[in-house]
Amino acid sequence: MHSSRKGSDVLVIGGGIIGLVTAWRAAARGLRTVLADPAPGGGAAQVAAGMLAPVTELHYGEEALLGLGLASAARYPQFAAELADASGGMDIGYRACGTLAVALDSDDRLHLRELHALQRRCGLESEWLTGRECRRLEPMLAPGVRGGLRVDGDHQVDPRRLAAALLAACERAGVAVHRASAQRLLTTTDRATGALLDDGTELQAGQVVLAAGSLSGRLAGVPPEVVAPVRPVKGQVLRLTVPAAYAPFLSRTVRAVVRGSHVYLVPRENGELVVGATSEELGWDTTVTAGGVYELLRDAHELVPGITELPLTETRAGLRPGSPDNAPLIGPTDLPGLHLATGHYRNGVLLTPLTGDVLAELLATGELPEIARPFTPAGSPPHIRSRTHDHLRQR
Ligand code: GLY
Repeated sequence: MHSSRKGSDVLVIGGGIIGLVTAWRAAARGLRTVLADPAPGGGAAQVAAGMLAPVTELHYGEEALLGLGLASAARYPQFAAELADASGGMDIGYRACGTLAVALDSDDRLHLRELHALQRRCGLESEWLTGRECRRLEPMLAPGVRGGLRVDGDHQVDPRRLAAALLAACERAGVAVHRASAQRLLTTTDRATGALLDDGTELQAGQVVLAAGSLSGRLAGVPPEVVAPVRPVKGQVLRLTVPAAYAPFLSRTVRAVVRGSHVYLVPRENGELVVGATSEELGWDTTVTAGGVYELLRDAHELVPGITELPLTETRAGLRPGSPDNAPLIGPTDLPGLHLATGHYRNGVLLTPLTGDVLAELLATGELPEIARPFTPAGSPPHIRSRTHDHLRQR
């Protein structure tokens, strides 16, 4: 069946958290907005742990990304309140719990000391603790913990609840949600005009936002020079449950680098304990492997031995939208009418509020806010050409 819809101001391709926040914020600005996704509210957010950790996840050479992350983290309390209002009262599990990054051996300690020095140079707040001080804060930590960094400003949100609330907010704001995949971008000689969906529907719009996560580089019809340079980076994540009798098991996010790999434990108020994550360059594979689960449990057990007592309730793998330099691609492309909101890599949940605000401003006024300019795909700025390869060192 072929049908055609005309007259939308904005078409958002992709209904993960980035596409949903863009559509909701655009509709709230009075733009007639359509969104296409076969399973809106799905995607990487269904797997992600939801750490809001710009300070703990700081890396050399990523100061511009730090600024973006801090700005988005600062918006979260207000964003959560607005979203609760717009979704009819849905709570996204924003928890101002803080983070403790710990070291298990002298190499880890050196690595954390360097991170601490970098954080201080960037004017960030974090405090060095001895192993004993770490265990005083979190008694379930292993006796072997040699020290750690307390970062009271790095919090968490529940990405599944975030996705559900954003979908509800979109529907309440009048976003027309099409449960089908965009198959091809529609263009005239000089601009993007809409998309053809795999159910035959043709959606026309004044502006198109491509926000399809790791799939953003695969949409047919996009001119080669503006194809989004994103790739899938697999992350396996476990969910355990802390029985009420064991609570509080952990009071904040606990993380470490164990044998060169990142492991984190994110405790939710409802008893869920999220343990993540692998980082694997395996294309579109989302298999949960025995090796992935084993390594996560082994490393998490070194940090918090008591986790072996907890029920393992879920194992899942998702695909992060990796970009060449780990930073997102936000803003107009060189094809008029086509904008990108993708490539958020490890920071999609963190950057959701800011991405929504930036894209809504761009869509409503034609102006990309200053904070997002270093990340615009238009003109292929140096940040896209340069490759730090930091992602290859991460797990
Ligand atoms: N931000 C955590 C991860 O991508 O694993």
